[in-house]
Amino acid sequence: MQDCISFVQNLQMSTYILGIESSCDDTSAAIIKDDTILANVIANQEIHHKYGGVVPELASRSHQQNIIPVIHSALQEAKINKKQLDAIAFTRGPGLLGSLLVGTSFAKAFALGLDIPLIEIDHLDAHILAHFAQKPGNRITTPKFPFLCLTVSGGHSQIVRVNDYFDMKILGQTIDDAAGEAFDKAAKIMGLPYPGGPIIDQLAVQGDPHKFSFPFPRIPQLNYSFSGLKTSFLYFLRDELKKDDDFIEKNKVDLAASVQYTIVETLMKKLVLASKETGIKEIAIAGGVSANSGLRNAIKDGEEKYGWKTYVPAFEFTTDNAAMIAITGLFKFQKGEFTDQKAAPYARSKFSIKNK
Ligand code: KG4
Ligand code: ZN
Repeated sequence: MQDCISFVQNLQMSTYILGIESSCDDTSAAIIKDDTILANVIANQEIHHKYGGVVPELASRSHQQNIIPVIHSALQEAKINKKQLDAIAFTRGPGLLGSLLVGTSFAKAFALGLDIPLIEIDHLDAHILAHFAQKPGNRITTPKFPFLCLTVSGGHSQIVRVNDYFDMKILGQTIDDAAGEAFDKAAKIMGLPYPGGPIIDQLAVQGDPHKFSFPFPRIPQLNYSFSGLKTSFLYFLRDELKKDDDFIEKNKVDLAASVQYTIVETLMKKLVLASKETGIKEIAIAGGVSANSGLRNAIKDGEEKYGWKTYVPAFEFTTDNAAMIAITGLFKFQKGEFTDQKAAPYARSKFSIKNK
């Protein structure tokens, strides 16, 4: 491990960190130089498409196959040598344990071999802190603390009050399905391939969002629920298909637009409420579903409607990626917060995000 003197010297020079993400079905490696992402390589796992969802055993095996080539490509793209790395940041959780084990084990071995610090990262913190990652030659404005972040992915839907980089509080969250799951399940019911979220988005652009209406959940406080939408969508299509075998095909774009409208409106209602209750007008979105065009437009509209200042991530920082792990790693590196070789992955969120 580095001694104190070399650690202080490092703080004065540029810091290079390798980020590794392997929590679900994307194997990703990124290199950051200070707060600028030099490379962000992502290997998606096509293998799951034919099963209509992520198969954990297959995901960990694919991570094993992908991890070395992905890290090699990231180093090449960043044009740096592994010996220039100052630290290795990896996703410790939450996620699929078998998948996390691949990234964790590789990060530990690599850090040990290079004799540099190891930094554990919480995947959900990282989705939020992706807003602080810069791209070369194009610096963006970053959110001011405190801000609200709507984190919406395949596994989570949360409204988080972000007081500081590692001081976050969940103000509300889903009590059942996540928003990404709602998109994916609606797509599956329509016979679309996995993951259905991006396909619904593409179809929705051409459709009428008010052609069909589905009920909005009545959930107290700032929490969400998406399981009712899935059920009502399923029963609605079952009834319509009895009358017309071709109903889905004929109404594909309107169905997609109507489902997307219901999900986005549901997300927005509670976000607006959270902003009113806290008085916070710095609003960010994060996670895979923040790639959704309907949600991105609705957030942007909030600038005029509610006087918000909004932060929408670059597309490559929305779905799972290692750039968000690397930037979060940088903040931990600056605090000198390192992890020892005993660290084991965790499946459920338990670190810096805590319930109110
Ligand atoms: O953050 P992410 O890559 O993985 C998790 O941490 O879960 O999010 C994946 C989710 C999937 O449910 C996927 O369908 C959804 O994000 N997603 C979208 C879009 N792009 C990805 N949902 C709606 N519209 C999109 N454009
Ligand atoms: Zn994610």
